[in-house]
Amino acid sequence: MPINWFPGHMNSTRQAIKDRVKAGLDVVIELLDARLPGSSSNPLLAALTTGRPSLKVLNKQDLADPAATTDWLDFYNAQPHTRAIALDAGDKSPARALAKACRELAPGRGDLHKPLRVLICGIPNVGKSTLINTLVGKRAAKTGDEPGITKTEQKIVLENGFYLFDTPGMLWPRIAIEQSGYHLAASGAIGRNAFDEEEVALELIAVLKRRYPERLRERFGLAELGADEAVLEAIGVKRGAKVRGGGVQMHKAAEALLIDYRQGLLGRITLETPEEMAAWRRAAAAEEARKAEEAEADRLADKERRSGRRAASSGDA
Ligand code: G4P
Repeated sequence: MPINWFPGHMNSTRQAIKDRVKAGLDVVIELLDARLPGSSSNPLLAALTTGRPSLKVLNKQDLADPAATTDWLDFYNAQPHTRAIALDAGDKSPARALAKACRELAPGRGDLHKPLRVLICGIPNVGKSTLINTLVGKRAAKTGDEPGITKTEQKIVLENGFYLFDTPGMLWPRIAIEQSGYHLAASGAIGRNAFDEEEVALELIAVLKRRYPERLRERFGLAELGADEAVLEAIGVKRGAKVRGGGVQMHKAAEALLIDYRQGLLGRITLETPEEMAAWRRAAAAEEARKAEEAEADRLADKERRSGRRAASSGDA
């Protein structure tokens, strides 16, 4: 999916993470969206934080399918130096679960002499500011509905000897897995001017038809689910997005579906499974390898052509 964005602030966030590692870091909290726990995970983070122990927090669990959340928690908990918990950022009790998991990941740290230094990262709109506000019990970080509102690192003292360093919400410069791009856009992590809503809505319909067809039928009062375009058109008709002459304004239909999905009005829905994500990663890696091979073959062919030309011209002389 083509996404138009400007990676300037991603570079400065990357630098901020590198600076934090240099200054001292014990645990990395990665806030994930429980509706897309694979696609919302930053593929560059482990390398940036040089393998520091990691706590994956599946936030917005109230919007995600509980059975899928359990599968994703098992998946992450099986990874080395990693723990995973699920939360609703507005819930008052996360502090205890979060602090406990961080302490377990960095035994021997967490007093005034050896403070526990925790970095919190996540994609825009994942609920980082809400979680931090809940943890500190006041408005520590600004919340808002446009992605990327937090701009600089903040140090937050959670308890004596327990520091939380907040970074700006960050995506990565290139999303190699096409489905992940769609899921991130559907969730609201990508600014609305950076993608085509109709394309994303059609992909969301395809996922819903496969995983939660009843929810789609019930929410929009659809008797049957035909082709994806026909479903989007039917949603448009139900939502009064008709134009004079009988057609449907597909972008309005797309907007209606995306708004309902983001607000949880279709029920608790998770867009992907760990198995699907693993298969997409394998396919993306194979595609990268194929492109690299192709580029190398082009380079060698080019080199051969040039040396052939040189030999021919020296023969002429
Ligand atoms: P960010 O700092 O990571 O960018 O995200 P932020 O906290 O601003 O949260 C983005 C939106 O997600 C907010 O909604 C927030 O209320 C909502 N949110 C955060 N955590 C959860 C959660 O666990 N469950 C659910 N259902 N929603 C969550 P908003 O509509 O943009 O703002 P507001 O109307 O809440 O002010």
